[in-house]
Amino acid sequence: MYKKVTIYYFSGTGNSYRVASWMAGAAAAHGIDSSISSTANARPTEEIDSGAKNLVGLVFPTHGFTAPWHVIYFALRLPRRPGTHAFVTPTRGGTKINGFIPGLEGTAGYLIALILLCKGYRLRGVQAVDMPANWMALHWGLHPVNVSGIINRAQVKTTAWFGEILTGRRKLGGFIPLFLGLVLLPVSVAYLIGGRFYLAKTFFASAKCNSCGVCAQYCPTHSLTLQGKNRLPYWSYSCESCMRCMGFCPRQAVEVSHPLAILLYYIITIPAGYYLLKWLTSFFPGIKEIVSFWPIILIDYVYFLLSVYLVYRLFHLLIHIPLINRFFTYTTLTHYYRRYHEPGTQLKDFQEE
Ligand SMILES: Cc1cc2nc3c(=O)[nH]c(=O)nc-3n(C[C@H](O)[C@H](O)[C@H](O)COP(=O)(O)O)c2cc1C
Repeated sequence: MYKKVTIYYFSGTGNSYRVASWMAGAAAAHGIDSSISSTANARPTEEIDSGAKNLVGLVFPTHGFTAPWHVIYFALRLPRRPGTHAFVTPTRGGTKINGFIPGLEGTAGYLIALILLCKGYRLRGVQAVDMPANWMALHWGLHPVNVSGIINRAQVKTTAWFGEILTGRRKLGGFIPLFLGLVLLPVSVAYLIGGRFYLAKTFFASAKCNSCGVCAQYCPTHSLTLQGKNRLPYWSYSCESCMRCMGFCPRQAVEVSHPLAILLYYIITIPAGYYLLKWLTSFFPGIKEIVSFWPIILIDYVYFLLSVYLVYRLFHLLIHIPLINRFFTYTTLTHYYRRYHEPGTQLKDFQEE
């Protein structure tokens, strides 16, 4: 059916990379010229050919019931290719507690599918795949037995589904998760415009960090730099909280500070726009009538970004002091959490150095 299959993946802890690899393997088994490439290394203008003999796919994790901003941006930058076939596969966080509990991809798949449709691609498949949940800022990594159970199940599902796509069948799934995703849209929007910036500013390296630089070298969004006299990692706003640094750190030194997250929450929820307006009213009594809802929202948003940045800057300076570092290390739950990365995946597999 196809002459060429091109798969792009974005992956934090290796789940999406693994799913993309299974798909490329299945295509190769059908004798099709196939390639997988990370969004960081992709050259889509050269790699994607036009026409129905070519199949292009995007595989990526679900974040906040939708696609990560990095993936949305990647899809928006793809070249127009009218008639080229396309599929979209979000991976989501499955868990095992007694029985298997699936994740929820929400709008992740169809948002990217919509972008591809607007660029002229012909949609052949949308299907989420449950891989082990990897959000280690919230929960500990799953037990290895459960991890292997979930991965084996995902491999069977992925190869069967993708096998059908390769034979030319159209397979669109996930309409109930899409409906739930639309209901949860406010959560997804809040995550995209606020949550991901906030989360990026709760990471830090404990005293175990030896500044090896692996986290910065392999960060898929190049959001990490080593800073300060101790050369500790600093996370910028482009961080997607993909958990690669946390899951792959050779010394398990990357933590998410829960006390800092609570402190930040109190600071960012101060209604800065309201107070500013109140203060300005004492100079210009009529200003309340002129200033409407949206400028206040804008002021609140600028305040949010600025306060998160400044608090994290200060935190990052203080974290170099051993006593303070120890305090934040022992008061965060992540310090006691098991780490997770897809067991068969190594950092060098990501080809993003
Ligand atoms: C910040 C963040 C948000 C997440 N949000 C969701 C979600 O909304 N729904 C879901 O099913 N899984 C969610 N997950 C789990 C991941 O989507 C899932 O484990 C995925 O397979 C990870 O793939 P990767 O290793 O390629 O990054 C989230 C994970 C992270 C780190």
